[in-house]
Amino acid sequence: MAMSCPLNRYLLLMAQEHLEFRLPEIKSLLSLFGGQFISSQETYGKSPFWILSIPSEDIARNLMKRTVCAKSIFELWGHGKSPEELYSSLKNYPVEKMVPFLHSDSTYKIKIHTFNKTLTQEEKVKRIDALEFLPFEGKVNLKKPQHIFSVLEDYGLDPNCIPENPHNIYFGRWIADGQRELIESYSVKKRHFIGNTSMDAGLSFIMANHGKVKENDIVFDPFVGTGGLLIASAHFGAYVYGTDIDYNTVHGLGKASRKNQKWRGPDENIRANLRQYGLEKYYLDVLVSDASKPSWRKGTYFDAIITDPPYGIRESTRKTGSQKEIPKGMEKCPESHVPVSLSYHLSDMFFDLLNFAAETLVLGGRLVYWLPVYTPEYTEEMVPWHPCLRLISNCEQKLSSHTSRRLITMEKVKKFENRDEYSHLLSDHFLLYKGHNSFREKYFSGVTKRIAKEEKSSQE
Ligand SMILES: C[S@@+](CC[C@H](N)C(=O)[O-])C[C@H]1O[C@@H](n2cnc3c(N)ncnc32)[C@H](O)[C@@H]1O
Repeated sequence: MAMSCPLNRYLLLMAQEHLEFRLPEIKSLLSLFGGQFISSQETYGKSPFWILSIPSEDIARNLMKRTVCAKSIFELWGHGKSPEELYSSLKNYPVEKMVPFLHSDSTYKIKIHTFNKTLTQEEKVKRIDALEFLPFEGKVNLKKPQHIFSVLEDYGLDPNCIPENPHNIYFGRWIADGQRELIESYSVKKRHFIGNTSMDAGLSFIMANHGKVKENDIVFDPFVGTGGLLIASAHFGAYVYGTDIDYNTVHGLGKASRKNQKWRGPDENIRANLRQYGLEKYYLDVLVSDASKPSWRKGTYFDAIITDPPYGIRESTRKTGSQKEIPKGMEKCPESHVPVSLSYHLSDMFFDLLNFAAETLVLGGRLVYWLPVYTPEYTEEMVPWHPCLRLISNCEQKLSSHTSRRLITMEKVKKFENRDEYSHLLSDHFLLYKGHNSFREKYFSGVTKRIAKEEKSSQE
């Protein structure tokens, strides 16, 4: 009989940003590294303090090598709702688990971390002194300690109502920090090649994490733009590939998006972006191609499809095609035919995207994409679905008072049989999203200027 691994308790200190995206990120990463998200995990909604039960410290370290939603992880030694409760919980923590980190040859430091309150130095020292009962035998070293311990105090979420005493107090051994610094080091502001809709660095990493991107994967973005999403996947060791209908974007030509620059420079392209971050070896290619007419042979090619399709707000939703009705039997373009562009309804675009993902993803592969919604009309049933894809998560990011975009993550759970079989089955379910074809009109309706302004500032 297989022995089940004893679970240790860890405290995750979460960042207070993109709150809805945090849990799916942690769940996805845990499943990537062989840990499982179990119902006994305590994630406390909006709180920055989560308690996780994980089988090993290795899994905790791997998690932190990827997460941008969590700041730090600690091995949890004690927890209470008052100092007394914390101390008695610490006294119950097995000494044999403490000793390797407290012995006389070791150096250590104790830090105090508070959330929603600032303590004076004197108050901090008091808290450290109160821990004297722990069997610390090593030497204090504030500059380069071997082990760092933290007392973390939680004063709730309301800055207008800060309690005298913390709601919760935790004590733990610091293990690792997350990847928050990637948000700065990959900032779009410092990127070589950008466009009007380049994806924010933090969200790009979150998307790659929701997509469970891993080393040597092949990741595809059918609406690649300036390749913001490819960069995040390549950072995690995946080979990346993209397509875009816009010739200028793919070839790095045309008008620049930077204020003080008129035209794009000679080397402003996706390959150069990857080079900027030392990731060029992960570049497979980017092609000019229409996502509504994929040019792929039948087969499963991609470990993940991570993409941000156009919503028609800052870039048009277009596909290639003739304005005139194509005569029957002439569906395959004669060579002389020059396709012009047609508008591409959002519901058709998501229908095509899900079908394409169902067909070309490996089993277990993930599709991660943004679905724009007009919030007054949004219901969960509107989220496009496909029999081969299971919905994993659906997280909202507000764009304005009436609009948001939802980050949808789906996993391929069933082999794709035949395109025709699904087209008939799906149309009914896509009807619900069809109302959103006029997303652009709704977006700009009513208080047009205010909403547009809000959206702009939320993206800055
Ligand atoms: C929201 S932008 C993607 C931005 C990208 N994530 C980035 O970081 O730069 C959407 C892109 O889809 C492209 N697009 C629009 N219609 C398309 C189609 N039918 N096929 C392929 N790409 C299309 C647009 O040219 C635009 O570059």
